[in-house]
Amino acid sequence: MTRVSAQNLSRRHTSASSLLSPSLTATVMRGLTDSVKTLPAVLFYDSAGAMLFEQICDQPEYYPTRTEIDILSRYASDLARQAGDHVALIEYGSGAGVKVRYLLDKLRDPVAYIPVDVSREQLASVARERGGQYPGLRIAPVCADYTLPFELPVLPNEARRVAFFPGSTIGNFHPTEAAAFLHRIRHTVGAKGGLILGVDRRKDPRVLHEAYNDRAGVTAAFNLNMLAHLNHAMSANFDLTTFRHVAFFNNEASRIEMHLESLVEQEVLVNDTRVYFEAGETVHTECSYKYDEQTLHALVESSGFAIDSLYSDVNDWFYLAWLRPA
Ligand code: AVJ
Repeated sequence: MTRVSAQNLSRRHTSASSLLSPSLTATVMRGLTDSVKTLPAVLFYDSAGAMLFEQICDQPEYYPTRTEIDILSRYASDLARQAGDHVALIEYGSGAGVKVRYLLDKLRDPVAYIPVDVSREQLASVARERGGQYPGLRIAPVCADYTLPFELPVLPNEARRVAFFPGSTIGNFHPTEAAAFLHRIRHTVGAKGGLILGVDRRKDPRVLHEAYNDRAGVTAAFNLNMLAHLNHAMSANFDLTTFRHVAFFNNEASRIEMHLESLVEQEVLVNDTRVYFEAGETVHTECSYKYDEQTLHALVESSGFAIDSLYSDVNDWFYLAWLRPA
């Protein structure tokens, strides 16, 4: 029988002027009033943004999704064998939930699939679809920003908790925060659990640059959509035609940076606060860190995990790592 816990999908509003949580609202206001403006990447993923991200994954320049799926399809049986029986698979940021199928197809006698995502619509459809595809598997979706503490459903004692964090979303965190985050996953999965982690590798800067500056302009639309999201969710009045998408590889920091650049001097209202932009001033919307073997090892070790197996592709563009508690 498929069980989908509906209470996790109910909508909660916490403030009258903002549809966002109080802590996210505070982060936005702090970020926009800082001398160097920043906005949190989680704001990309309203329903329009989630759809745009799916379109990014189909762009010829955006290699990470395709490459990771290629690695997964090759090594899913291997990973499933190492994960063992009675796995409760917890997916951090399930999105459209395509990748997890490679694992669910190979896992032996899994006890539950727990997709965690901020996008309510996607979560509901992933839960519905996987429920149909894997009859007997318990599906327990959790609608949450997984960067904040969230509650897991109660699992049977024999369940082996395996976290799945694909897509190199770990790259959105600054390295010290990434370590802290993985450390929390380590705590969540416990001593007999594990983590399957997708990590984008450092590579030719031209390949990186193109992946975040696709010709069709989908990444630009994705970036700009964050302002539309704020217009809706925080009663802001950003004029999207006065901002432009900027993305480049910062070699010293080993990260792609995405920014939105104001083309004119202007004032924008956000939640009744005036935000002033000089012409040419940017809001930093995303970091996407790229790891090499050394920096990945350092990250994993500082989080209480150890790399058990490290898989990659023919181009050496992407890592899929099987991590065990150290
Ligand atoms: C979902 C965070 C892995 O960093 O490549 C895609 C998001 N940003 N294009 C990434 C993204 C611009 C993506 N992650």
